[in-house]
Amino acid sequence: MFSLTRRLLFLLPPEVAHDFSMATLDGAQKLGLMRLAANPVKAPVQLLGLTFQNRVGLAAGLDKNADHIGGLAQLGFGFLEVGTVTPKPQPGNDRPRLFRIPERQALINRMGFNNKGVDHLVEQLATKPRPSIPIGINIGKNRNTSNEEALGDYLHCLEALYEAADYITVNLSSPNTPGLRALQEGQALQNLVAGLMQKRTAMAEKLGRCVPLLVKIAPDIDPTPLTELADTLLEAGVDGIIATNTTLDRQGVAGCKHAEEVGGLSGQPLTEKSTDIVRKLRAHIGDNCVLIAAGGIASAKDALDKVNAGADLVQIYTGLIYRGPSVVSESALALANMPCESGHSSSK
Ligand SMILES: Cc1cc2nc3c(=O)[nH]c(=O)nc-3n(C[C@H](O)[C@H](O)[C@H](O)COP(=O)(O)O)c2cc1C
Repeated sequence: MFSLTRRLLFLLPPEVAHDFSMATLDGAQKLGLMRLAANPVKAPVQLLGLTFQNRVGLAAGLDKNADHIGGLAQLGFGFLEVGTVTPKPQPGNDRPRLFRIPERQALINRMGFNNKGVDHLVEQLATKPRPSIPIGINIGKNRNTSNEEALGDYLHCLEALYEAADYITVNLSSPNTPGLRALQEGQALQNLVAGLMQKRTAMAEKLGRCVPLLVKIAPDIDPTPLTELADTLLEAGVDGIIATNTTLDRQGVAGCKHAEEVGGLSGQPLTEKSTDIVRKLRAHIGDNCVLIAAGGIASAKDALDKVNAGADLVQIYTGLIYRGPSVVSESALALANMPCESGHSSSK
């Protein structure tokens, strides 16, 4: 059934197909059809002080403005991550900015944090019925904000979204905001996470609830900078790391149409690369931090590989476009049935 739907959707330009799918999902949810079709895997996991319905979440970027959380929650996810949201609304890059590479089950995007801004997202979460699964919010900086002033943008988002979020992800790894990935390094990273952790502590004291803070990283990091990055995050006391965002590497799509488009590559060609980052991170940090893996999960096996490499939870974006919602339930079921001695569970 999904393969026919996909064939029809793939006749449309990628962003049009996305908007059409989201509108259909919203319509089906309003009519109550999603609840009839839904058969979520219930395999609760306690992490970060939250209960995840299962280990499979929606990765950031598909619902940047939390406009579709009701329908998305009924696709069987154990949690959703919305955003990336920035303080002010911004249009993102010019279209076309999203490209399919079907022969590799991959996408290249250079969306550029197109979003309706933090006030809209706060309003959405305040006024819409809240799904019963955790909602993480992924935050970023506006394109016109310099890296020197980036902390101000992240603090603005953290404060505005604190009460609405089950967890907050600091996105330092989009390749489509010029210079953003430089914030993953050295003193810039130290200053940024120190400032954010200080604000988190102040908000937790004020509101009596400690919202977990995670950092999302790129896959294009060599081993030494990766361990330095992890050390900085652990020393600052962040609660978790999401690995990974999209890659700039084009090896996996060489020779394919669109392979040379500027942007981040996701899907199958990213699978091994991001699993490798997860494995290296887990080996370095031990049990001290929650690890959420994203990158090329398109089957139960891919999800199992990520958890065997050290992930506590996984997230999917591109696999959903190519495989449809069945990839969510298949993966969640496989992870729920994993023998206890394999896989990983952080102490957080
Ligand atoms: C079209 C598109 C838009 C994305 N937007 C964001 C974003 O706004 N913030 C973010 O942290 N990641 C974003 N991502 C990255 C995904 O969350 C995910 O980390 C990455 O695509 C790897 O997972 P996948 O192979 O399952 O897609 C985006 C990915 C795609 C394909």
